[in-house]
Amino acid sequence: MSAARLSSDVSASDEAAIAARLPDYLARSYARYSNFTVASAVVDEQGGVHFGVNVENAAYPSGTCAEQTAIGAMITAGGRRIARVYIAAGSDAVVQPCGACRQRIGEFAARTCEIVSVQGGAATVRTPFWSLLPEAFGPADLE
Ligand code: THU
Repeated sequence: MSAARLSSDVSASDEAAIAARLPDYLARSYARYSNFTVASAVVDEQGGVHFGVNVENAAYPSGTCAEQTAIGAMITAGGRRIARVYIAAGSDAVVQPCGACRQRIGEFAARTCEIVSVQGGAATVRTPFWSLLPEAFGPADLE
């Protein structure tokens, strides 16, 4: 991935490569309680790509979502602004981020951030992130 791109600028070939890799990450998901595997990729504004899977726990509420894991990877790598979030599920479902993950994504989402659902290794439904979290509570509220 090349550096210093604008948030809306994930090339079609980069997108195809990310979507094609998500099924491999689905196989790494730890979903022994729900059997609902989820994989996510967060692309930051520098073009860095950060993958994550859901990681469940015997103490059920301690489990983490795929998007949460991917955001943690982005922050750890030094990324701070999310351009796109790719989400794939092990079922045929078109998965949108859960409510808690919308809040987590919103903390870092660029104005033009998009959520892209991936099915069968290809991008399908594309949703403007902020349409999923209108009137959000965010960092500015604490200033
Ligand atoms: N899950 C995610 O990882 N991301 C979502 O956006 C929706 C739900 C996970 C959490 C749990 O491990 C499983 O899917 C079933 O809810």
